[in-house]
Amino acid sequence: MGTRLADCLKKGDIVCLFGDLGSGKTTFTKGIARGLKINANKVNSPTFVLMNAYQGKHPLFHFDFYRLNTPAEITAIGYEDFFYDNGITVIEWPQRLGRLLPKDYLRVKFASKGEEKRFIHVSVRGKRSSEILARLLK
Ligand SMILES: Nc1ncnc2c1ncn2[C@@H]1O[C@H](COP(=O)(O)OP(=O)(O)OP(=O)(O)O)[C@@H](O)[C@H]1O
Ligand SMILES: [Mg+2]
Repeated sequence: MGTRLADCLKKGDIVCLFGDLGSGKTTFTKGIARGLKINANKVNSPTFVLMNAYQGKHPLFHFDFYRLNTPAEITAIGYEDFFYDNGITVIEWPQRLGRLLPKDYLRVKFASKGEEKRFIHVSVRGKRSSEILARLLK
């Protein structure tokens, strides 16, 4: 599904991945990477570095804010720069951003259904993300 989603994305798009520890956010990001012709083996949870950047069909900025304590911590590193048009942004633990959540993003929510099954709920937040979902459903 991540790989299919990648085909619907363009520079400037933001995908926020919600869900508990181990619910499948990084695995989904590997799928997006594959769709962007990035080696998925290189994509791991950037829990200790906040962000990894990969070069593929488009640049991929992979954030993980699990360890972020306050939204203010992140403004210090200029993270909003990645919301501009130079790549595709994927965010794990986006709820840590609080009021800094972007205005328009595709919302993907993961829930574990036992060891081997996942429930994935996709919704939109804004005009551009509606276009992405429409393409995904085609
Ligand atoms: N769609 C899926 N179906 C079955 N198993 C999955 C699926 N997605 C992920 N898993 C399995 O769940 C485990 C955790 O996945 P993953 O690392 O992607 O979770 P995460 O949401 O990124 O966790 P964290 O919050 O710790 O970063 C892995 O063992 C992975 O293989
Ligand atoms: Mg992860």
